Amino acid sequence: MIIDGKSVAAKIEEEIKKDVEELKKKGVEVTIAPVLVGSDPGAKVYYKAKQKQAERLGIRFKGVELPDDTTEAQLIKVLEDLGKDPGVHGIFIELPLPKQIDLQRVAEAIPPEKDIDCLNPKNLGKLIAGGAVGATFSELRTRLDFMLPTTPQAVMELILAYQIPLMGKEVVVVGRGAVGLPLAVLFLREGCSPVTVVRGASPTLGEITRRADILCACVGRAKLIKGDMIKKGAYVLDVGINPTPEGGIVGDVDFESAKEVAEGITPVPGGVGPVTTALIFAHTVQAAKYLSR
Ligand SMILES: NC(=O)c1ccc[n+]([C@@H]2O[C@H](COP(=O)([O-])OP(=O)(O)OC[C@H]3O[C@@H](n4cnc5c(N)ncnc54)[C@H](OP(=O)(O)O)[C@@H]3O)[C@@H](O)[C@H]2O)c1
Repeated sequence: MIIDGKSVAAKIEEEIKKDVEELKKKGVEVTIAPVLVGSDPGAKVYYKAKQKQAERLGIRFKGVELPDDTTEAQLIKVLEDLGKDPGVHGIFIELPLPKQIDLQRVAEAIPPEKDIDCLNPKNLGKLIAGGAVGATFSELRTRLDFMLPTTPQAVMELILAYQIPLMGKEVVVVGRGAVGLPLAVLFLREGCSPVTVVRGASPTLGEITRRADILCACVGRAKLIKGDMIKKGAYVLDVGINPTPEGGIVGDVDFESAKEVAEGITPVPGGVGPVTTALIFAHTVQAAKYLSR
């Protein structure tokens, strides 16, 4: 079975359009403010794509473009100004940032209630606060005052949409980065056990991934996970985005060999990516609802 991110994203977008119309009737023009710093080609592509998608969804795009030599202090000032602007609901920082800027330091300048990708450490802390007793993923995703990090949430939304069973299932997350760590927390919150986080470079990677009922690849290494590293009947969620010399993208999973053993698998492109993008806008709508309540 192909786990189709495009169809899940389309459903989220239908809800967004309805909500945008409702808010418009109340005089609220939902506004997203992505901030692009420098000239990284990947960051520019995502920024431009957001502009188009915002137009399609009826969301106002108030993007900010800053030069390569922007300082941390300058970026913090821009984020603070957007934070104070009552006409802005969602603030997003395009990645990667130029080397002189530390994401952790600048992210603190995004007000938590406008932080649509959970970058502010105050919001990230809510992910673990209270442990599993605090809230399950299902509870967290419906809270109006807090937005989860979009990519880990996208993986979980695909699991919910395809009714992939989680209770008592063994999860392996490959990658300990910005996606892998919070994703592992969401699985734990939802009752999965054990949840293993393994580095992409682990010498025993295959041994560990073969244990997984649910396998998530979040490393950023093209086709690292082959079919013989996957348990028969597992569900495979491929977060990785790796550019190919031909100008396309591939995931961290070797799709052709993996689909022969997996019960369900996300393609790249067309899997986790479109759901992540849809959630960026869904969170902007959520922030607009919260701020105009
Ligand atoms: N589909 C989507 O919508 C979406 C969204 C965001 C990201 N992505 C993709 O998902 C992949 C992972 O993204 P990410 O943001 O999680 O990347 P990240 O934070 O850079 O982490 C990825 C890997 O980098 C390595 N790494 C190097 N130094 C590290 C350090 N000091 N701390 C932690 N990890 C370190 C780790 O691998 P080792 O443990 O093996 O060293 C880690 O697993 C990338 O391919 C990215 O393009 C996709």
